[in-house]
Amino acid sequence: MAHSSKGGQDRILRTKFSERLCHWAIVICFFLAATSGLSWFYPSFSWLSGFLGTPQMARMLHPFLGIAVFAGLCYMFVRFVKYNLPARTDAIWFRNVKGVLLNDHAQPLRIGKYNAGQKVLFWLIMLSIIVLMLSGIVMWRAHFSHLFSIPVLRLAILAHSVAGIGLILLILGHIYLAIWVRGSIKGMVTGYVSRRWVHQHHDRWYDELAAKEARAKGSET
Ligand code: HEM
Repeated sequence: MAHSSKGGQDRILRTKFSERLCHWAIVICFFLAATSGLSWFYPSFSWLSGFLGTPQMARMLHPFLGIAVFAGLCYMFVRFVKYNLPARTDAIWFRNVKGVLLNDHAQPLRIGKYNAGQKVLFWLIMLSIIVLMLSGIVMWRAHFSHLFSIPVLRLAILAHSVAGIGLILLILGHIYLAIWVRGSIKGMVTGYVSRRWVHQHHDRWYDELAAKEARAKGSET
């Protein structure tokens, strides 16, 4: 089990440094891309482009920030996809979602490294960024938009807006859940979570790690 005993408390490595670095870089780029994007929806939102300095800077940087988010999510996809594939035990989580929301841990839910809700979110985030990227290229006036007809451009603008708002809402839900499950943000900052946290929130992953640890100990003796 990848763990350390700093401060006498057993900690388990949940997220590696490169993954954390990528995640927080995505957060910064996403915040700037989302606020600049929203600033063009309504005149009363225009102040949001101020995070990038001026409306002109926002106009210029928005596509590059979007590409950075896409590139970061490609890396996250490669690193995390194996933990987000559907498992038969996900049905138990869906059946007991009420208990999960009430923080009731009485029944073992056989949750792997990520729970079924996180998996759904993972795939929706990936779907949204693909739509944003493809429609964004079509709309990119400086380079590509002249290659497409007006109806295709209109469709791209609609798809970009829907996927953009959708992704912002998904991320707001993601942040809410990250705050709600105490210890998970610390895990994304330091990389480590407590053994108790893993046992409480990801019981099947805990058993897998314990079995791995037992095997490693067995091969040492
Ligand atoms: C302030 C904003 C954010 C916070 C506080 C936050 C927090 C977290 C935390 C705590 C985890 C780890 C969950 C766990 O270990 O169980 C996580 C995972 C993740 N986050 Fe964020 N996040 C934020 C923004 C974002 C954004 C903007 C994106 C993408 C556009 C994103 C994409 C992901 C992905 C793909 C994972 C991996 C989840 C999985 O594999 O199922 N996050 N985030």
